[in-house]
Amino acid sequence: MIIAIDGPAASGKGTLARRLAEALNLPHLDTGLLYRATARVLLDHGQSLGNEEAAVAAARSLALTDFDADLLRGRQMGEAASIVAAIPQVREALIEMQRTFARRPGGAVIDGRDIGTIICPEAEVKIFVTASPEARASRRALELKGQGEEIDYAEILEDIRRRDARDAGRSTAPLKVAEDAVVLDTTKLDIEAAFKAAREIVERRLVKSRQ
Ligand code: CDP
Repeated sequence: MIIAIDGPAASGKGTLARRLAEALNLPHLDTGLLYRATARVLLDHGQSLGNEEAAVAAARSLALTDFDADLLRGRQMGEAASIVAAIPQVREALIEMQRTFARRPGGAVIDGRDIGTIICPEAEVKIFVTASPEARASRRALELKGQGEEIDYAEILEDIRRRDARDAGRSTAPLKVAEDAVVLDTTKLDIEAAFKAAREIVERRLVKSRQ
């Protein structure tokens, strides 16, 4: 069973995907890390994020074992990731790796922006996790504070809005709700309530597929 979780920045999709994967004993891939790692390779080599040729080479050089999530999680890397993620050839270079992961026997939980639309349109379960920009900014601020980053709520909200616009506005694989996805708005839900709601969506889907 493939469970595709998509949604905008700081919507809580990563936490939900991880919790679902644990509960269902499935492997989990956070595809944001692929774009973050691509951006990281460029920055480590002193190359510009807009250098398409270097960005494609960086994306092709990645292996799924490369990711030190702690190094990639920071605020700057999210912004950098969304710049390289808008390059169509970078996305193309990362498709196979994601599909191979998702289509392993037994299935997987995979989260990102285009999983239900482009990477795994065949996924049995698709959840689009969203929340208001203000709720997402508060969550991201808390998370970054926990990682020891200096934060300014207004700047984080600005980051989120800019990233939403870039992710939804790009020509290749823009962030959008797949036709057959269930939208889960977590603005008023804490992690436990969101997890419960996501589990119910999965269970409903499974019952339906058995009918
Ligand atoms: O956790 P957060 O939502 O802030 O970021 P992320 O999921 O790690 O993604 C970082 C950036 O990578 C996003 O803003 C997207 O531009 C890009 N991304 C994408 O284009 N496609 C994906 N499947 C995953 C991430």
